[in-house]
Amino acid sequence: MTDTFTEAPATYPASVEFAAQANGTEALYREAAADRLGFWAKQANRLSWQTPFTEVLDWSEAPFAKWFADGALNVAYNCVDRHVEAGLGERVAIHWEGEPVDDRRSITYAELFTDVCRAANALTALGLRAGDRVAIYMPMIPEAVVAMLACARLGVLHSVVFAGYAASALKARIDDAEAKVVITTDGQYRRGQAVPLKAAVDEAVSTDTTVEHVLVVRRTGIETPWREGRDVWWHDVVDSASPDHTPQAFNSEHPLFLLYTSGTTGKPKGIVHTSGGYLTQASYTHHYVFDIKPETDVYWCTADIGWITGHSYVVYGPLSNGATQVLYEGTPAWPDQHRHFEIIERYGVTIYYTAPTLVRTFMKWGRDIADSHDLSTLRLLGTVGEPINPEAWRWYREVFGANETPIVDTWWQTETGAAMISPLPGVTECKPGSATRPLPGISARVVDDHGNLIEPSPEYGEHASGYLVLDQPWPSMLRGIWGDPKRFRETYWSRFADRGWYFAGDGARYDLDGNIWVLGRIDDVMNVSGHRISTAEVESALVGHAHVAEAAVVGASDEHTGQAIIAFVILQADRADGGAEMIEELRAEVAREISPIARPKEVHVVPELPKTRSGKIMRRLLRDVAEGRELGDTSTLLDPTVFEAIRAAR
Ligand code: WT7
Repeated sequence: MTDTFTEAPATYPASVEFAAQANGTEALYREAAADRLGFWAKQANRLSWQTPFTEVLDWSEAPFAKWFADGALNVAYNCVDRHVEAGLGERVAIHWEGEPVDDRRSITYAELFTDVCRAANALTALGLRAGDRVAIYMPMIPEAVVAMLACARLGVLHSVVFAGYAASALKARIDDAEAKVVITTDGQYRRGQAVPLKAAVDEAVSTDTTVEHVLVVRRTGIETPWREGRDVWWHDVVDSASPDHTPQAFNSEHPLFLLYTSGTTGKPKGIVHTSGGYLTQASYTHHYVFDIKPETDVYWCTADIGWITGHSYVVYGPLSNGATQVLYEGTPAWPDQHRHFEIIERYGVTIYYTAPTLVRTFMKWGRDIADSHDLSTLRLLGTVGEPINPEAWRWYREVFGANETPIVDTWWQTETGAAMISPLPGVTECKPGSATRPLPGISARVVDDHGNLIEPSPEYGEHASGYLVLDQPWPSMLRGIWGDPKRFRETYWSRFADRGWYFAGDGARYDLDGNIWVLGRIDDVMNVSGHRISTAEVESALVGHAHVAEAAVVGASDEHTGQAIIAFVILQADRADGGAEMIEELRAEVAREISPIARPKEVHVVPELPKTRSGKIMRRLLRDVAEGRELGDTSTLLDPTVFEAIRAAR
């Protein structure tokens, strides 16, 4: 079948050679469909359980699931010890590349084992016990992975906070989780410069805090303020700790970590993931979706550990499978645009998993850069985080994949814990722009307001779209929002409460082949370069500024970043004129309060905001303005003339 616009093939089956060696098979779909729970039990048994489970799923207290509830295992044991016990201690777990060129080291599974044991002993000595929370605020260095695994080994919940977040965002996350320890570094490298990181921790824990200790890895050597008694150097307590540590098994439903993500209010949600189910699906999907051959593959997922992708496909998935992977500290453009390609060449990367926004950046840089490197080791590519436009998909396949490799477009979320909708490479035909179909064991559908399946048909039209729902529980599903069961029910389970379905927040449609096309968020969550940012968060940062009276924020389509943040603000009366300087100040304020990734692309000073009679801001209409469209239905507007003034202000 060909695409009528481009004449390019609309689907890309894998080569015969790829299909012949693929981990996935068509039979997996059949097996899962015939006995879903039996299928998951089998996947769970890819792991090593200290106490085998007898029950697969307990859904009696829906939407609070229990998977493998009477089983017990240690997650870190599964990611490290068992590979060493199997005689694979000399295999490289991590090829680490620092941001500074020539700063690199490779760590074997045996070394990782020793590091994790020492760190676990050191954390115990700092007073941590199973169930406690630890915030990890670190750049992409091996110690960050060690810190996560050490927590997992002790049954301590980690809450990794992206090291690009500002002190106030860090504080909100530390406070909500009531973390006892923060693990950080003195500084981090940003485009060749060592910049402070611990300083933000100091600010976050300076007042009113639950934090007893700050454990600091020396990364850059920059001068660092120190509070005796509270602050502890990693090299003092971890390097001297005993390398012997016996892992204790925890119940399958013991929480493994919290990961904060943006919701539709200004307050981030602490997504709770537990042990057995999460690891089962992270490991299973990593094996089949990335077709991993641990003996020969060199795998590289470019995500930061501050996001769920870094949890599931840098730490838990690959390590549970005994894979060899690349971990890179810096950005793709440092010291120049060749960096990622050099890394692929140096280590002979075979599987590369990244975000569509980065693919578009590479496109912008031009294929000459890629073409000047030997990328012939690549045999499988992947994307995640936002829909990928077919043009970028084809470019990626041609330039990275020699027009040969499958590309797995993986749809999932912080909440789902692991991939849900994705081709199985070698089995499912790939289709540019579509994540294709639910993985074996996963059930999803696209439905209308009443829960009816929307299918391309004369009745709905060929492009009818609806809500993407997950109509069956899955092992790595979130178990709740930390401390807020009510918000958990309301956010995910209320729209189709009568059916008991999970609503993901995304719109989607089917094509005529039955593939799912995810269209993006339909709630007040924006997706900027694959980063999830809520409109409310940015609005609250803006109104936090002394001169802002009111703010409304929308995500508008953007060629490079998927969506761009566009803010409309009303200034205090005495500042009503705004001016370029004020606009810059407001953009900087958001970057400071949240993170540079949340810096609005545009800030427009307007005299009024469009509101309904009940006072709700009509973002839909602001989106129309931001994207230069005709206004949609304005009938519920309190004051329909408001747009003349808004347009004049642009
Ligand atoms: C949202 C989840 C999953 C890790 C990275 C983001 C969007 C994610 C895809 C994809 C279309 C995608 C959705 C989803 N999204 N992957 N392959 N195609 N959209 O995790 O921050 O929890 O964001 O990212 O809108 O709901 P997250």
